[in-house]
Parts: sequence; C-alpha cells; structure tokens
Amino acid sequence: MKPSPALFLLAAVPLLFAGCATPTASPTAAAGFEQIRPVLEASCVHCHGSERLAGMPSFSSTRDLAALTGPGRLIVPGAPESSRFFQVVAMSDSDIGAMPPTGHALAPREVELLKSWIAGGAELPDKNVALRPHGRSPRSR
Ligand code: HEC
Repeated sequence: MKPSPALFLLAAVPLLFAGCATPTASPTAAAGFEQIRPVLEASCVHCHGSERLAGMPSFSSTRDLAALTGPGRLIVPGAPESSRFFQVVAMSDSDIGAMPPTGHALAPREVELLKSWIAGGAELPDKNVALRPHGRSPRSR
C-alpha cells in the first residue's frame, strides 16, 4: 500500500515546529554573506582581487560578486551545482580548474558554507563591501 500524502503531512508537523523553536540552530538556514566573506578573503581574493590576471573574475567587492551573479553566470542563485563558482571549489585538488588552484583545497565546512549561500539565493548586502585578502596567499601556504 502506498502511504497517503496526509501521513507525510502529519509526520512533517513536529519538524516544522522544531524548526520554529530554534531558527538559528536550523541546519537548513542558508549561510549569509558575512559567513562566506572570511572564506573568500582567506582563500580567493589574493588572486581574484585588484591585481588579478586579465580575464579572471573579480571578487574584490560585493558589487563585483553581484556582477557575476545571475542565470548562466558564475554564481546562479538557488543552484550551486550549476554555479561554476561552486563547482571549482567542490572539485578534488587534482582536477584541472579546481580552486584554489594550488593544492590547498577549502575545508569541507567552507565548501558547505559556499554551497549553502548560493542555495539560499547568494544574498549580498545592499551597501557595497570591499573584500581584502587575509593572511598569506594560498599559493605560498
Ligand atoms: C593562486 C591563485 C588563485 C586562487 C587562490 C584562487 N583562484 Fe580562482 N582562478 C585563478 C586563475 C589563474 C583563474 C583563471 C584560469 C583558470 O580558470 O584556471 C581562476 C579562475 C576562477 C574561476 C573561473 C573558472 C571558469 O571556469 O571560468 C572561478 C569561478 C574561480 N577562479 C573561483 C575561485 C574561488 C571561489 C577561489 C577561492 C576558493 C579561488 N578561485 C581562488 C587563480 C586563483
């Protein structure tokens, strides 16, 4: 016998309430810009900043990120798997095109943050925010 849709609904009700009770602890809450910012500043902006090579996407500011965002662009809101920006960090180090390209992959937690941010709509602050490289370049670590 196929379980009725009504049973699924009943089963989902307690889950909904649990979600309401602990909104900040919910594992499904999308990562915000302030959570992904340190990841980009530690591992991407050294190369994708103001001194990047011609043709490379710029992650120097939220305005630049916004210009890379949209259907068919590097960051496709709601679709991390179709976003080149996510694909390159999810690749294994040995794959050509993996980012960072120097064999220092992001931690799985950081990859999940970027995925969650894009899945949740790749929200950016209204006001333009500059991104600056933090720490040593992934190239020299
Ligand atoms: C050591 C320098 C360096 C670092 C660090 C780096 N990149 Fe890149 N990135 C490059 C270069 C060079 C290119 C252009 C050549 C290429 O596509 O391989 C590039 C290209 C890209 C592209 C375009 C790829 C395409 O197929 O169009 C994306 C997206 C990208 N990087 C994302 C990132 C992200 C996200 C990070 C941080 C996790 C990062 N990169 C860190 C050097 C770097």
